[in-house]
Amino acid sequence: MNPEIIASLKEEFARPTHPLSKLNNALALLKEELGENSWVGLYLFDEKKNVLFLGPFQGSPACEEIKPGKGVVGTCYAAKRPLYIDDVKKFPGYIACDSKTKSEAVFPLKLGEDVIGVFDIDSPKLDGLKDDLKILEEASSLFANSDY
Ligand code: SME
Repeated sequence: MNPEIIASLKEEFARPTHPLSKLNNALALLKEELGENSWVGLYLFDEKKNVLFLGPFQGSPACEEIKPGKGVVGTCYAAKRPLYIDDVKKFPGYIACDSKTKSEAVFPLKLGEDVIGVFDIDSPKLDGLKDDLKILEEASSLFANSDY
């Protein structure tokens, strides 16, 4: 992934437009970089329901709700740390939303002391994100600090 994507994302987030428009376009920029059959999106935490719900995303339709502690996304949320799964078949309790996904990276969306959700990236290649993890981590802090 081209590191210049971070500058493009910053430019997008600086626009004086609606937060949802910026989030969707930022995710679209990332998906274009990651290529066909990739998936990028946000799962956001709903305190009342104690569930992570599907927020803005780009890619195939995905699971709408994930419990904290479940799957890759819920594990990341509960542990409050990033996870990289080079082969999703190896992850116990993996939630398969799309059979094309072979590897997955997740980052907690940290806003101050709070974790407000999870930034989720799926690749159709085995170990497909290993070279992009640093850039994706930088992107995750831009998403965390964006307006919702
Ligand atoms: N695979 C994820 C579910 C979300 S989708 O990948 C979009 C998981 O195990 O939590």
